[in-house]
Amino acid sequence: MKMINFKDAKIPAIGMGTWHMGSDRAAYAQQKATLQYGIEHGATVIDTAEQYGDGDSERLVGDVIKDFDRSQLFVISKFYPFHAERKQMQRALDASLKRLGTDYLDLYLYHWPGSTPLAEVVANMEAMQQSGKVKHWGVSNFDLSDMQDLWSVPGGQHVMANEDLYNIGSRGIDFDLLPWQREHNVPLIAYAPVDEADGRGANLTKQRALVEVAKRHAVTPFQIMLAWAIRDGQTLAIPQTSSEQHMQENIAAGDIELTTDDLQLLDQAFPKPTRHQSLDII
Ligand SMILES: NC(=O)c1ccc[n+]([C@@H]2O[C@H](COP(=O)([O-])OP(=O)(O)OC[C@H]3O[C@@H](n4cnc5c(N)ncnc54)[C@H](OP(=O)(O)O)[C@@H]3O)[C@@H](O)[C@H]2O)c1
Repeated sequence: MKMINFKDAKIPAIGMGTWHMGSDRAAYAQQKATLQYGIEHGATVIDTAEQYGDGDSERLVGDVIKDFDRSQLFVISKFYPFHAERKQMQRALDASLKRLGTDYLDLYLYHWPGSTPLAEVVANMEAMQQSGKVKHWGVSNFDLSDMQDLWSVPGGQHVMANEDLYNIGSRGIDFDLLPWQREHNVPLIAYAPVDEADGRGANLTKQRALVEVAKRHAVTPFQIMLAWAIRDGQTLAIPQTSSEQHMQENIAAGDIELTTDDLQLLDQAFPKPTRHQSLDII
């Protein structure tokens, strides 16, 4: 699996999302087995949030990671914007750590911009980092103007990453946000990278260019969507799956090298944006 430099960490380019996982008792064993399979096969980055299933996703992740060497994992969680004040953030973090059964997070994300002044949110995230309970902090669902605001507050430039919706069918951030992040060395975490949360990916993957490039590499169009999302070597994609077969395919997508011809064909079918677009959020 392709590794990427994530500020001072080196992590695999494909991780695992866990939204909507952990709450359905009938699906629990399969979801747990799939995440275990993922870690065993190199997908050592796991993305969760206090929001997901009201803590059920974090509990599932805790149940999975207890059997692995914690130092080999990169665990991401997120706090609600209404937990951005100091005391609430401390409580939210402690509760997440308890559900996860770990004493630190590798990355703690401000889930989406809220009403607490950004300078205060940053100061609080810096304090969480200093406590040792958080190795790094970052943001999510930030657009270009949010990143520019962040850059101007004290400590804002310590941000490790921004997690936004990004896939070949939703590439508005290619216009301005992603070039800005590359210039400022802020990696992207691409969520919904196969655009399947709303079932749109199934339609996208019937698209001729994706089918053609998939054929060239003898893989599935979903795998090409993942290879495309991580093509710059600075992006982490976090597809979610409860299927071992899909997990295996997603991990294998981390090794696909798209050629210039592939990228041109895909650009024709899914053109680069030519003006600023409002950020896609789910
Ligand atoms: N920061 C944020 O605000 C935010 C928002 C949304 C999501 N996220 C994070 O991003 C993660 C991923 O986003 P998402 O779950 O919305 O969308 P996604 O990963 O694009 O789509 C997930 C869906 O794709 C299917 N799938 C995955 N791999 C596949 C493959 N190789 N072939 C065919 N189908 C495949 C899965 O079905 P199967 O189970 O059948 O494989 C699942 O239904 C979430 O789990 C969450 O951790 C973050």
